[in-house]
Amino acid sequence: MNTRHLPRNPASDVTELGYVGIGVSDLDAWRLYATEVVGMEVRGGTDEGFQLRLDTWHHRIDVQKDGTDDVRYLGWRVADADALEGMAERLAQANVAFQRGTEEESEERNVLGLLKLSDPAGIATEIFYGPEVENQRPFHPGRPLHGKFLTGEHGLGHCFLSEPDVDAAYGFYKLLGMRGGVEYKFDTPGGPQRRPVFLHCNRRQHTVSFGHGYQGKKRINHLMFEYTSLDDLGLALDIVQEKGIPIVRRLGRHSNDGAVSFYFGNPSGWLWELGWQGRDAPAQAEYYRGDYYGHQTDVKGFGL
Ligand SMILES: [Fe+2]
Repeated sequence: MNTRHLPRNPASDVTELGYVGIGVSDLDAWRLYATEVVGMEVRGGTDEGFQLRLDTWHHRIDVQKDGTDDVRYLGWRVADADALEGMAERLAQANVAFQRGTEEESEERNVLGLLKLSDPAGIATEIFYGPEVENQRPFHPGRPLHGKFLTGEHGLGHCFLSEPDVDAAYGFYKLLGMRGGVEYKFDTPGGPQRRPVFLHCNRRQHTVSFGHGYQGKKRINHLMFEYTSLDDLGLALDIVQEKGIPIVRRLGRHSNDGAVSFYFGNPSGWLWELGWQGRDAPAQAEYYRGDYYGHQTDVKGFGL
């Protein structure tokens, strides 16, 4: 793996996964899933899509009906306009092609400015600053919640991507200012050892991950969201089971982020992971061969 030191200014590093765009086939199914199962707030709504809120940001997730049933784009935050300029310089020095977002495109994302580029898997990547925060519009969960979604300095959650070229992906996300590396080694009978990579850019133990042996049909394997209350995780598990939604990985506790979590199918055939009490990003690297407990895979075909 390329661990070459990249000269950079930490002040322009990305600070969080700020927003995500997803493409879906069934808007109604997604609306029910996001609200009644998970507890997010729907904003707007047309025949083409709607947005989802998790906190006081204008929105965190943009759901568009385009039939792709996959991730459309990932939005990575930097601190401010200077940081965005620093990132533009960094990308130019590394010969990574990017475009500057127009005023219209910034308006569309409810941010002050952005750069547009692609990650090595071809996932549309936006680096932005200045999200619109609506303190006048408190978060209104789609179903009763005991607590809230853990966002703030943790960003919206984490994503597990399907990256065909793991070395290229590692170099790219390090270039954006993320840190981390291999955190698990899994021996697979008759196959190469799986060594998933986990990178962080804030307190959240990891914000993006990928690895050899995790290349699925979709460009995203899962998105993870974290509740502040264990009761919301338990309630979500009840609702998922009541609605007969496939639980792909049972309740368990990861060794790396320490979160208690489970994975279940979404209406587009990939996974959402819901968790509680993940720990802070580590100052020093370590790796594992298993989790504390649980996370048994019950349903195949979701790339895990
Ligand atoms: Fe995860």
